[in-house]
Amino acid sequence: MSVILYNDTFLTREQGKVDMEDRGYQFGDGIYEALRVYNGKMFLLDLHMKRLARSARELRLTLPYDTDHLAENLDKLIKENKMENGYVYFQITRGAIARKHRFPEKPISCVLTGSVEETSQDEDLHAEGIKASLVDDIRWLRCDIKTLNLLGNVLANQDAFEKGADEAILHRDGVVTEGSTCNVFIVKDGTLITHPANHFILNGITRIFVLELANRLGIPVEERTYTTEELLNADEAFITSTGVRVTPVVQIDDHLVRDGKPGQITTRLLDAFNQDVDQFITETLV
Ligand code: PDD
Repeated sequence: MSVILYNDTFLTREQGKVDMEDRGYQFGDGIYEALRVYNGKMFLLDLHMKRLARSARELRLTLPYDTDHLAENLDKLIKENKMENGYVYFQITRGAIARKHRFPEKPISCVLTGSVEETSQDEDLHAEGIKASLVDDIRWLRCDIKTLNLLGNVLANQDAFEKGADEAILHRDGVVTEGSTCNVFIVKDGTLITHPANHFILNGITRIFVLELANRLGIPVEERTYTTEELLNADEAFITSTGVRVTPVVQIDDHLVRDGKPGQITTRLLDAFNQDVDQFITETLV
């Protein structure tokens, strides 16, 4: 990454400095989004912007400018960096002011930073499946807001890593919520099951997209809570996120998910997802 976005200005990475009293730095008082870029264009942009606006509303955080202007700036950022495939990460904080817990009295403009990372088109995909580990969900009760506060996620992810797993699947008292960086789905008797979009999970853009694909493919869906026992007895399990799209979970701690191979419905959804990405790329070529 050579160029970054800071409020409305493009700077080199070296020029971009965060004030030590920025509330994002001191309190994690801010929000973020991470988008996938294919062929120089942002994928599922409108859904990401809608979620950003919702996160801002929920935290009563005023965006420095509207999401259309933000999208234009991110587009310029991608061009400035000559990026073709990869990610754009950006965050918006409540700005820099002398440290006090309560909101600043006078509205102050928010700080916006952007970063981009070039990756190959399918670098993060693991079609053969990953290993997950069950970890206690110790996070707060507003996991639906995409805030910068990710300590509960960070600790869970590290815990899973130290147990030799690729991802942590979180549960509250035996009810599976989501992954440390993703949403979690299971398949039982042909039905797709995932935690409802409420305060206990982040409503992933990929989750929304996969539910739409399931609808299109005629796969029955239940958005309901399910237990760790149901997870361990599932016919199939998979995770979804901007980075990993649809990735099969073939092992959970020492337990194989069915025969330890990616399931049929998971594979159908992954294929449909990949086709849509290919179509998106084709459309952006014209
Ligand atoms: N993580 N749940 C959590 C806790 C997440 O952090 C994420 C995404 C998701 C999936 O959301 P989406 O499909 O919109 O990517 C679910 C991002 C990629 C991150 O923090 O880097």
